Amino acid sequence: MAEAYKVSDWSGANGAHWVSNQVRLDAMLDVFGTEALAAAAPREGERVLDIGCGAGASSFALAAKVGASGHVLGVDISAPLLERARLIAPTGAPLAFELADAGEAALPHAAFDLLFSRFGVMFFADPTAAFTHMRKALKPGGRLAFVCWRGATENDWVRLPMGAIKGMIPDVPPSDPEAPGPFSFGDQARIERILAAAGFTDIAVLPFDHDIPFGHGNTREAALDDAVAMAFEVGPLSRALADQPQEIRARAAIAVRKAFAQRPGENAVMIDGAAWIVTALSPAS
Ligand SMILES: C[S@@+](CC[C@H](N)C(=O)[O-])C[C@H]1O[C@@H](n2cnc3c(N)ncnc32)[C@H](O)[C@@H]1O
Repeated sequence: MAEAYKVSDWSGANGAHWVSNQVRLDAMLDVFGTEALAAAAPREGERVLDIGCGAGASSFALAAKVGASGHVLGVDISAPLLERARLIAPTGAPLAFELADAGEAALPHAAFDLLFSRFGVMFFADPTAAFTHMRKALKPGGRLAFVCWRGATENDWVRLPMGAIKGMIPDVPPSDPEAPGPFSFGDQARIERILAAAGFTDIAVLPFDHDIPFGHGNTREAALDDAVAMAFEVGPLSRALADQPQEIRARAAIAVRKAFAQRPGENAVMIDGAAWIVTALSPAS
């Protein structure tokens, strides 16, 4: 069975890079989270579980919707990201955060109106078991709504930089597309299979495409430099180049910058992103 992303991945260097790039990452992911939030339609007074909440942007948005009579619990395996979430949480928001694996955390039974996630559900070793566990925390008739990436080949923000460094590093054998990782929910049929097996009904998986503002700067040149720096710190390119010598990394930076320069954008480089917006229900009884 595939290894889940380990706590150490998200609490170690990866988590640290997410924390130091939190503002930029939130700007990049915002439109996708907003679309998932619209699909989730949280209402005042509802109780929500935010799965893999990271630094908390989606938890804050959910808390604003459910208001003081509602509550949001953000669960994540990354200590540094949760620390960041607690630090930047709006004062007085109806929120709590818990350091736990959402797929096996001690969750209250039939307690939540909504399970939500912005890109936090693709890392379970056994997604069917994890979703079965989380569904039991939903009230009968409760809702699930999340956004996840479609396949890597559909997402230019990974296809472009990875294409640019082709031939510079030894070809890695294609990884199992179902192994835990950002693109493990790329296949619509697989999402439907997992959720049906986990006991959800009324499953809908809809494509959502949008530009992602990569990097930022006061000029296009500064934005391009920032976009390259970011791709070297977070995501598939950073992992592919992590153990490469400085000479290769320097060549790769030039090639990735050239690839990004083909994309429009003045204060950020606009790169196509392709996601699924997924909704489902817990059976009414
Ligand atoms: C791509 S990040 C998204 C973070 C956040 N939702 C956002 O949109 O900014 C994935 C998040 O899922 C968390 N995660 C991964 N596996 C998890 C698990 N089994 N249980 C809870 N959180 C998990 C990671 O620590 C990380 O914060």
